[in-house]
Amino acid sequence: MGVQGDKIPGDLAGVPTPLLRKTTVNYYGVVDFHDIEIRRVVKCVERTSSIDYFNLSDKIAFIGQQIRAGLLTNFPGVIADRQISLRTYRRCCIGSQLVDWIIQECNLVHSRQQGVGMWQVLLEEGVLKHVCNEYNFEDKNLFYRFREDDCGSEQGPPGASVPLADSVLLQECFTTLAKMGPDALMRLMLRKPPKERTAEDLDYIYEELLHIKALSHLSNSVKRELASCIQFESQEGSGTVLIKQGDEGKSWYIILKGSVNVTIFGKGVVGQLHEGDDFGKLALVNDAPRAASIILRDERCHFLRVDKEDFNRILRDVEAKTERLKENGKDVLVLEKLSRSDGSQSNKYTIMAGTPEKMVEYILDSCVDCRDDDEHDYFMEDFFMTFNVFMTVDRLCTLLMSYYNETVKTDDRYHGEEGGFDLKATEQKKIRVVRTVLRWVELIPQKMGEESELMPLIGKLRSALHSDGMLSLLAQFERGLENSDNLLLHKNTSRKKEGPSSMLWIEHSPHLARMSSSSRQRISRPTIDDSEESKSLKREPLCPNTDVKFKVYYPDRSYCTLKLGLGSSVSEIAKEASEKLAVNPEDCVIFEMKSTGEKVIFKESDTCIITTISHNGRLFAAPKGGIEKLKPLQEQEGPNSSSFNDLEIMSSREIALQMTLYDFELFNCVFESEFVFSVFKKHHFPGKIVGNLDCFLARFNEVQHWVISEICLTPLLSKRVHLLRKFIKIAQHCRDFQNMMAFFGIIMGLSNIAISRLSQTWEKLPSKFKKLFKEFETLLDPTRNHRTYRLAVSKQESPFIPFMPLLMKDMTFIFEGNKTIIDGLINFEKMHMIANTIRYIRCARKENFVGDNLPLVKNRADIRHYVRNLHVIDNQRTLSQLSHRLEKRPE
Ligand code: CMP
Repeated sequence: MGVQGDKIPGDLAGVPTPLLRKTTVNYYGVVDFHDIEIRRVVKCVERTSSIDYFNLSDKIAFIGQQIRAGLLTNFPGVIADRQISLRTYRRCCIGSQLVDWIIQECNLVHSRQQGVGMWQVLLEEGVLKHVCNEYNFEDKNLFYRFREDDCGSEQGPPGASVPLADSVLLQECFTTLAKMGPDALMRLMLRKPPKERTAEDLDYIYEELLHIKALSHLSNSVKRELASCIQFESQEGSGTVLIKQGDEGKSWYIILKGSVNVTIFGKGVVGQLHEGDDFGKLALVNDAPRAASIILRDERCHFLRVDKEDFNRILRDVEAKTERLKENGKDVLVLEKLSRSDGSQSNKYTIMAGTPEKMVEYILDSCVDCRDDDEHDYFMEDFFMTFNVFMTVDRLCTLLMSYYNETVKTDDRYHGEEGGFDLKATEQKKIRVVRTVLRWVELIPQKMGEESELMPLIGKLRSALHSDGMLSLLAQFERGLENSDNLLLHKNTSRKKEGPSSMLWIEHSPHLARMSSSSRQRISRPTIDDSEESKSLKREPLCPNTDVKFKVYYPDRSYCTLKLGLGSSVSEIAKEASEKLAVNPEDCVIFEMKSTGEKVIFKESDTCIITTISHNGRLFAAPKGGIEKLKPLQEQEGPNSSSFNDLEIMSSREIALQMTLYDFELFNCVFESEFVFSVFKKHHFPGKIVGNLDCFLARFNEVQHWVISEICLTPLLSKRVHLLRKFIKIAQHCRDFQNMMAFFGIIMGLSNIAISRLSQTWEKLPSKFKKLFKEFETLLDPTRNHRTYRLAVSKQESPFIPFMPLLMKDMTFIFEGNKTIIDGLINFEKMHMIANTIRYIRCARKENFVGDNLPLVKNRADIRHYVRNLHVIDNQRTLSQLSHRLEKRPE
């Protein structure tokens, strides 16, 4: 027999020679093995006693040999021909006898169950088989046969020569089997249909589940439930596709043995998962298509599998709160279970953080096909509301179009063969892009027609669908766009085409910007305009390319009128304005002259400055170095008499109504994106404007100044008292109309020091009004983050105008208190918070304020004109001086 120094057989060639020990194995004639492989192994073993040197299959084949030899030696007659139902089964053993024997022979076996596990190891490797290949190993009167005894036919008994067992080697084999038995026993139990699992099985599985990493966060009661339904799944062949991206999710997996690749169309392999890792939860939790393909890396992989129905029943509620997806070793998406409004955890995931690209991919792969249910995930909506913060619209469009253009190959590519195209999956991608764009249009109010940032994408998508011959999808797309209230594409709304009506005349305060008709480009302030035309003039949103006409003053107080796009930069304004100054544009300074004399100098790169000018501010152009001595224009001081007589004849309710109608117009013009641009600092978004928001917020200051100016310009005490009452009444009506902007504008105006110090006037105010004012003032209380106000408005239903400065403060707080990028990922929690505030605003203006159920008053047009053309003093110093002149300080 072989000795040290002999030629080392092929499969042991890698083993260092000193490890190969001389063996004491003796074979008294080798039975006629049908399997040459085993013969080869046995030969190897003649040169070594350490069975650990073999690969697993060889090792178990060898062990099977030894055990069979042991049986033949120590338990004669156990391998015999047996008859059942008139049929004879040659050379087989009885399951329960095999268990008896192994318990008797091996000291390590303490229970019949343990013995079953050991025989199951041999059965799984094909060393032992049920005679009809029907059963796993069972401790029953079932017939099993060793591979050596199976000659393919039911012929006579084995030949006379049988191997004799070596007791030391046999014990070594038992030891190895005893180690492998528990896992095999577990697999055996997990392979049983759940209904057939015994109480003993369930206890055993439960004990094993306690040690599985992927389940460690689950409670023991959940593990107990899992024991009754979790299944074992073995997959063979590296390259086998276990999960295919885009398919419906049917199961969740935990890797017991082996490893898998995670692959994504267009990206290839993005990660590997190993023993203890889990996958496939995403599609189940979100009811979405599979987000990646899972492909075997090893020849044989073992998994634990929980099917969808069981997952939903047991795990959906309790499964880990957070899921992290990695690509190339780095986190790319962090998902978390949604929280319900009552604080409990929902079943669905939403995005907490991610790379912009992965978030787009998640929308396309997982969100857009998601079935709608009551648990609303706002991710998609929030994404389209806030994406400008972390990626440009161009980048987003490029990502969508490259997804559209991706071709998916058939599964063959996973096996390294040249595969064909998976037409269905490729087409599905195009459908998803179309759906995503339609959802975008549906979710986010868009700028009109050509001004929508979606237009280039819509154009590209149209021509791509056309040239791909996807005409029915194109028709669906067009129908979707046409049906959308948010994108008026075919309704000839491009204001450019409408000629003069696209022109805005911005004269004094920015909120005076309005649509003017072709016949009247300028509405002059003093005359009351009651024409139908004026009434129908509805304010429309400003866009970067909306043409505006405005005045630029020169140091000599002359002015020029410029007509430029609202989004124009200061250098463009300087270029136009400098001509008259006869200086180079670079030497021309553009600044706002406030009514106080303060000068706000604009940078050349500043854009959309017109809407930032204060109520009585004026835009000036002057040569560099020539601005210090310049004084405000006379007209900037504001009015010098009150409009008491006009106000007298106007009903307080009608004033409040007209104010609310106007405020609603201003409010409705603000694009949701303007809140984002404003909070995240306008200069980060070149080409974007916040002009509509500027106008809306400026109105609040204007109303305050109006209240102060009117009272301070009324010398007669009795008239002042009258005005006080009037403003309190108007505020009350504004509150009833749920116009919190005007309400606070009036109350803050009345609380201004120039008014609050007028003690003689307040004294004369009837106590009923004093009480009312006190009540209103409590709403201004800032303690506990304006709790009183928040409680008061919490039940308001659309339409209402919230107190915008407070919402802006909330958003700024979110912006400053949370990082936008954490560990290279967009902190989407921050975007969710900003989006929630925007949603509140959206909810406020869901319904339009009409106010048409109120009795008609005959001077409605005058009142309408009045509230839209308030004359105010916006210089606090002047207002204080006027106040002191009215009522001197008590001695
Ligand atoms: P599911 O979408 O159900 O099926 C594919 C699974 O791959 C997915 O759930 C995740 O559990 C897993 N996976 C791991 N890494 C990624 C990744 N980077 N992107 C998508 N899926 C991933």
